Amino acid sequence: MKNIKGNKVVLVGNGAVGSSFAFSVLNQGLCDEFVIIDLNTEKARGDVMDLNHGLLYAPNPMKIYAGTYADCHDASIVVLCAGAAQKPGETRLDLVSKNMKIFKSIIDEIMTSGFDGIFIVATNPVDILTYATWKFSGLPYDRVIGSGTILDTARFRYLLSEEFNVAPSSVHANIIGEHGDSELAVWSGANIAGISLKDLLKEQPEKEDCMDDIFNRVRHAAYDIIEAKGATYYGVAMGLMRITKAILNNQDVVLTVSAKLDGQYSHDDVYIGVPAVINRNGIRQIIESPLSEEEQQKFDHSVDTLKGIQSSFFN
Ligand code: 2OP
Repeated sequence: MKNIKGNKVVLVGNGAVGSSFAFSVLNQGLCDEFVIIDLNTEKARGDVMDLNHGLLYAPNPMKIYAGTYADCHDASIVVLCAGAAQKPGETRLDLVSKNMKIFKSIIDEIMTSGFDGIFIVATNPVDILTYATWKFSGLPYDRVIGSGTILDTARFRYLLSEEFNVAPSSVHANIIGEHGDSELAVWSGANIAGISLKDLLKEQPEKEDCMDDIFNRVRHAAYDIIEAKGATYYGVAMGLMRITKAILNNQDVVLTVSAKLDGQYSHDDVYIGVPAVINRNGIRQIIESPLSEEEQQKFDHSVDTLKGIQSSFFN
């Protein structure tokens, strides 16, 4: 990786997710320079003006402007939010062919600029498109990160936090696997403020029935939101902001992102949602959480689902 000075972040794809991400970066004062690239240059121009008008009230100064792929050459991070989004009734996997084509041309342009930083991928199906970004870019796999199950984990922790009446940050529980229908909850490792969920449920057996409901609500959340308002964007934007912050501030924080397995969880050659340590270099390490037999089987199924699709594009 080039020794990059400053903290330049480039956003590619200024739709609902991209522009919500831009707003969260501004709110947090995360970087020195923020560039927006979109085919719709008028929308990008308008958003740049709008964001700049909030600068006075942001925690740090920031240079925000609309750019071109050439602006990626000295970026620390390029965040990919471009592509078609799910429509009501569509699964994330239904989007794969459309978005694969879009990604091939975008990544070729970004790499032609001389980009040598870290990719964060948000476009769905995110695990497959993160794998594609790694393949198309030729960058080391630890510098290509997908948003993976970062949002599903946030949804899960929020719902558990409501049930147990503590803040989401005091709930320790992950959703892993595909960011999609085959994902799974790691119930065996879940704890609330350090007390294992299993023990808590022994004390409060009346809560046992809510747990399946919570997981179903997590897995179904995107469908519900899309039905209600056409798209999901604030939650995932916060997740993207969290990954960006972990990288720029070299935090070594564990987040459930889409990372490439290389023997972990008995699999390889697939990008999938797992807990991983994130810092200035990208993915420092994948954490292998102990899984119950049933969880491992569900994870294996999730890997198979992704590999089945991946194999029709890459061999
Ligand atoms: C979400 O889970 C649609 O992947 C998006 O909100």
